[in-house]
Amino acid sequence: MSLKTRSMTRPKVVLAYSGGLDTSVAIPWLSEKGMDVVAVTVDVGQPVDLETVRRKAEASGAVRAYVTDARREFAEEFITPALRANALYEGMYPLSTALARPLIARHLVEVARREGASFVAHGCTGKGNDQVRFDLSTTSLAPELEVIAPAREWKMTRDEEIAYAKSHRIPVEATKASPYSVDENLWGRSVECGVLEDPAVEPPEEVYGWTRSPTEAPETPTYVTVGFEQGEPATLDGQRAPFHETILRLNEIAGRNGVGRIDHVESRVVGIKSREVYECPAAVVLLGAHQALEALVEPRDVLDFKRTVEQRYSQLIYDGLWFAPLRAALDAFVSSTQERVTGEVTVKLYKGSARVTGRQSPYSLYQEALATYSKGDRFRQEMSEGFIYVWGLPARTWSAIGAKPPAQVRRAPQHPP
Ligand code: ARG
Repeated sequence: MSLKTRSMTRPKVVLAYSGGLDTSVAIPWLSEKGMDVVAVTVDVGQPVDLETVRRKAEASGAVRAYVTDARREFAEEFITPALRANALYEGMYPLSTALARPLIARHLVEVARREGASFVAHGCTGKGNDQVRFDLSTTSLAPELEVIAPAREWKMTRDEEIAYAKSHRIPVEATKASPYSVDENLWGRSVECGVLEDPAVEPPEEVYGWTRSPTEAPETPTYVTVGFEQGEPATLDGQRAPFHETILRLNEIAGRNGVGRIDHVESRVVGIKSREVYECPAAVVLLGAHQALEALVEPRDVLDFKRTVEQRYSQLIYDGLWFAPLRAALDAFVSSTQERVTGEVTVKLYKGSARVTGRQSPYSLYQEALATYSKGDRFRQEMSEGFIYVWGLPARTWSAIGAKPPAQVRRAPQHPP
């Protein structure tokens, strides 16, 4: 009997549901494949009304719909480590979309376990990075779960999707669809498609949603002061605030000053080059401020070595390896560098630029008595001569030996004089 009942129970699939066309169509598509769909919507700071989305998921045929506000979790557990590692992919992209994927995957896995589901699903196509991030995060956390990506399989055009939605009585917004594909969360806004697909063409003003054009920005600068504690932003203009609220405020203030626009031709994991436009006002301000504070409190070799770690760290976030052991190992290194990254940094926002104008820390390595060229100089300049003599020894030896004609084999001198 158990076999029969089991074969009658439909397997469950937990779907990452945004409320957009792709994931709404995915619900009846998965149902028709014989599965019960449980929808999960995670608020990471995108403009979403969770209650509306929940009702839409149910109206589209989900057997259950979960919604959750994960903005604080996103800021504290994902953005904070990325900021401490100064994470910028290819030196340009603060990884906003990339950082949210492992968090969403973690929620999918939690719900899948609670619901006894054997599948999770997402709305990504087969051409992007996000499929890699969802699939790898899920499989790292729950190797027993199988991942389904309907949009990788169904080969429907957009018009066919709309027709499919209508025939399944799924509400399709009447508004004319934007030519752009947009992804938003606390850490930034990503825009692709439309005219942006020609990397030679300047992005039209209409692609921007969070930032004012620098030419339209206020004529007078705005100053913001960020207080860091061990590499984490703890205060904004002297007021203590949860990190996700600081990010929201900075997106608004910096965006108003035209700060945070990024135009980049990016190397995707799947080998494609793609033109991306980002708006990351808070990220640009905070990454600049954090680096300035590190420059004040970290020794030169730590800064230098950390650059290598940062580059690797950024790449693994991009590549979907958040839950892989390398990230934990690099985090341990980064954390130990952040012990003294405490202090305040002031940033001047003006017509698209964010410039650090001041920094201070109880751990500052800057000693005026050493740096000054005025009275009170404690640096013993006469000691530099001996230092340079020894430091320059390899360079002198190299030059003294000189280049030799290839035919002539000589014995190297044992020691320079
Ligand atoms: N290229 C970026 C990344 O891989 C952003 C992708 C954003 N997705 C979108 N639908 N616009 O992280």
